[in-house]
Amino acid sequence: MDAVIKIGGSLAESPEQLKALGFKLSELAKKYAVTVVPGGGRFADMVREIDRRFALSSMLAHRMAILGMDQYGLLLTQIIPNSVATYLLSDARQLSEIGAVPIFLPSRLMFKEDPLENSWDVTSDSIAAYVASRLGAAKLLLVTDVDGIFTEDPKQYADAALIERSSTGELLRLNKRTSVDRHLPKLLLEMPMDCYVVNGNYPERVAAILDGQHTVCTFIAPRK
Ligand SMILES: Nc1ncnc2c1ncn2[C@@H]1O[C@H](COP(=O)(O)OP(=O)(O)OP(=O)(O)O)[C@@H](O)[C@H]1O
Ligand SMILES: [Mg+2]
Repeated sequence: MDAVIKIGGSLAESPEQLKALGFKLSELAKKYAVTVVPGGGRFADMVREIDRRFALSSMLAHRMAILGMDQYGLLLTQIIPNSVATYLLSDARQLSEIGAVPIFLPSRLMFKEDPLENSWDVTSDSIAAYVASRLGAAKLLLVTDVDGIFTEDPKQYADAALIERSSTGELLRLNKRTSVDRHLPKLLLEMPMDCYVVNGNYPERVAAILDGQHTVCTFIAPRK
């Protein structure tokens, strides 16, 4: 597998831009073996709200949020041409080999194996990293609605600076949620892979990363 590409739920806020990204992904899938992992977006936010109201057990909150990823994944089948939703890693491998775009719905695998801590520190970023490691992907792309990981939230601080390169160790020391979840750096230490955080509103940046070219993004290097 060349790459696992997580499509952030944040990108669903701009349907036209998400469609442009979807079109680009289906083109890229003809050249590279890729698997898409959906984010949680509004579907997971709904579970956050229900969790606040009902104080769900951590297992229920985790599982309901993962079902939110399945839902966004189903939406993505209508956005990405030539895509197919699947619950099976084996299907994802096969579909990626024939130039289609597998969209991996994570609930079946995650409910069965439950490999990650059940907490809100583990979101679709960590789940995508786990799937990438199971698929032996060379690259993990976390596609979101900002240019990468910044020193502060760029939507709140105009002077936030883009971190172009970080290591898993440095990210771990930051010890906060950025544009990626808090658990991701821990997982990347256990499962080293090249990880990129990139803005999906610029599909050509996603293409550049797959082509091995330099572009605007945050590269998380696998070593400390
Ligand atoms: N230090 C930071 N650097 C970059 N973005 C940050 C930082 N802190 C907070 N953010 C916010 O993180 C957001 C992206 O993460 P978010 O989880 O909301 O989206 P996503 O991962 O694309 O979607 P989903 O989690 O639903 O799949 C950005 O829109 C940005 O406002
Ligand atoms: Mg997120």
